[in-house]
Amino acid sequence: MQLYSDPADQLIVALDGMSPEEALLFISRIPDLRWVKVGLELFLNAGPDFLIDLRKKGLKIFLDLKFHDIPVTMAAACREAAKTGAELITVHACAGLNALLAAQESAIAGAERGGLPAPTLLAVTVLTSWDANSFAEELSITECLEDRVVALADLAKKAGIGGCVCSPLEVSSLRRNHPEPFELVTPGIRPLGCESGDQSRVMSPADALKAGASRLVIGRPITRSINPANAFSRCCDELVNTH
Ligand code: C5P
Repeated sequence: MQLYSDPADQLIVALDGMSPEEALLFISRIPDLRWVKVGLELFLNAGPDFLIDLRKKGLKIFLDLKFHDIPVTMAAACREAAKTGAELITVHACAGLNALLAAQESAIAGAERGGLPAPTLLAVTVLTSWDANSFAEELSITECLEDRVVALADLAKKAGIGGCVCSPLEVSSLRRNHPEPFELVTPGIRPLGCESGDQSRVMSPADALKAGASRLVIGRPITRSINPANAFSRCCDELVNTH
């Protein structure tokens, strides 16, 4: 099943390494762009009002601030984040069930207070910067990393969270237990013919969707391209055949 009929609804471009002015200029060069990801760097530089500027341009926002705290603080952060009108907001699944329940409830309340539709919270399971060795040596966790990803995704689902951010290589196993509309949003995407750069576990846009991803986050292959509009539309073209 495909939730979205238009590839532009599934391509989220990460506005990393840009000042607010550069981000606005970049956006103006891709008329078909529908989704942007705002991470900590741009959010701290530009401030919450920048999200209003983006929304005025008709863009949908993935606010990737990865909240991880005690339940009351997670709840407060998600309430405020929802008031910005961001449609997707990240939290860490390892904050625990109570924190995730509180986050979900407060996100809905915050959006209601702002007269906005409720956002979808996305849980980060295990950051892809961890591997089995660093997990064991630095955190004394010997459990298989893949099992932990599955357990944390299950926990998020139990708390009513709307989806997960995961590596493209985790998508198919998570999708088996979590059918759509549970969102599986994956970075680590490299269109055909692109350098993988510092991403070691990558997949092409079409393969990630075929594996069960609902949306893709793509940064540098589009933001560093000489012609971002072209790079964006090539990614859309790659997705058309999966629809
Ligand atoms: O430029 P690139 O396409 O690699 O950007 C991917 C985006 O997804 C970046 O914002 C990066 O921080 C984010 N991300 C990632 N891997 C994860 C989680 C997030 O690359 N596991």
